Amino acid sequence: MNNFIYDIPVKVYFGENQLCHLGEELKKYGSRVLLTYGGGSIKKIGLYDAVMSEMNKAGLEVFELSGIEPNPRIESVRKGAQMCKEHNIDVLLAVGGGSTLDATKFMAAGACVDHDPWDFFNEKWAPIEKALPIVTVLTLSATGSEMDSGGVISNLETRDKIGRMAQPMLPKVSFLDPTLTYSVSAYQTACGAADMMSHIFEVYFNMNQDLYMLDCFMEGMMKTIIKYTPIALKEPTNYEARANLMWTSSWAINGFIDGGKRQAWSCHPIEHELSAIYDITHGLGLAIITPRWLKYCLDETTVSKYVQWAVNVFNIDPSQEPMKIASQGIKKLEEFLFDTLGLQSTFTEVGIKQEDFPIMARKACRGKVLRGFKPLTQEDIEKIFEMCI
Ligand code: NZQ
Ligand code: ZN
Repeated sequence: MNNFIYDIPVKVYFGENQLCHLGEELKKYGSRVLLTYGGGSIKKIGLYDAVMSEMNKAGLEVFELSGIEPNPRIESVRKGAQMCKEHNIDVLLAVGGGSTLDATKFMAAGACVDHDPWDFFNEKWAPIEKALPIVTVLTLSATGSEMDSGGVISNLETRDKIGRMAQPMLPKVSFLDPTLTYSVSAYQTACGAADMMSHIFEVYFNMNQDLYMLDCFMEGMMKTIIKYTPIALKEPTNYEARANLMWTSSWAINGFIDGGKRQAWSCHPIEHELSAIYDITHGLGLAIITPRWLKYCLDETTVSKYVQWAVNVFNIDPSQEPMKIASQGIKKLEEFLFDTLGLQSTFTEVGIKQEDFPIMARKACRGKVLRGFKPLTQEDIEKIFEMCI
């Protein structure tokens, strides 16, 4: 077991009717707030009015930036960073899903530097040493952005989608009210489940080291997703289902499950290349790639992990041959993603073309080797893509 640091200083208000604390929390950081949100779902569900009313009560001065895109663009980040500078913003309030939260993090960081925010992502990899404080109100359970220090930004011009983490961008406070996710469509609910599941897989599938307690915790979260997503799909206003999914989304990626495991992620860098070129929903891309990646990485050296997973998460009969148990686990996962959640299962269905495989594969491993669960070269990633056709 390796040493590790546990440090997740995000204050979470979980549950219904917690927004009454919004004003007091924002006021701790100043009086000038930049409110950021996406394409308008927060207005449809009455959340915009609720948030504005709390801020008015607290006597805060509010500036607004709306229209943050799913797979958020660098242009929105630039706009937000500029607004922070122009209006001398003290604190940013992001209200929405992962895209709004991610973009807001880089606005907060961009506000503290003189250069273009894209320099955080290009070959300059400019340091992120400071960011304005960020408070979030989450409306979609998926990315865990509400409790992590990362974000992913797209640049359509360069056909890049790049993620970056930096501790100063960690939200100070996040409001997690499961009722705010009642209006999330079946499709986005399913994509969110696939995303959370992948966040757990990226850590769980690891041959380097086991921390039994964390493995059990991860298996519990996987079972939670498998149990509650179908309920949320059938009954979108089922509080118990939405609450379980919301808290799982945060803990799947907030760093806790990493323990001392040090391993690069696999499916995420690969998926980001699909979204970069095709602008597809992140969770959908992950759903298509993940079972193929699992099949590709399965061999005598890795099979024990699959057996543990298949037996503990899917109750596969442990008395069988290990390879058989592993295959049955992957089959169960496919049934969950494609039959139960109803997500599309192939590149063909979502319009991803073979001609882009080499460039996507090369960018995913940065022309070298992606050192995840199993090291993957460009050639390996292209083979995984071929399995997705
Ligand atoms: O824009 P609005 O109108 O708000 O609509 C959104 C959007 O169309 C809608 N939506 C959100 N909450 C809703 C709702 N519709 C009805 N009711 C609600 N309560 O859902 C659509 C998708 O929203 P988006 O924010 O894009 O989804 P998600 O939360 O899945 O975020 C995806 C982004 O996060 C990145 C992804 O790459 C992608 O760009 N990720 C961020 C991570 C992180 N910060 O650590 C990690 C993840 O692996 C991921 O890469
Ligand atoms: Zn993800």
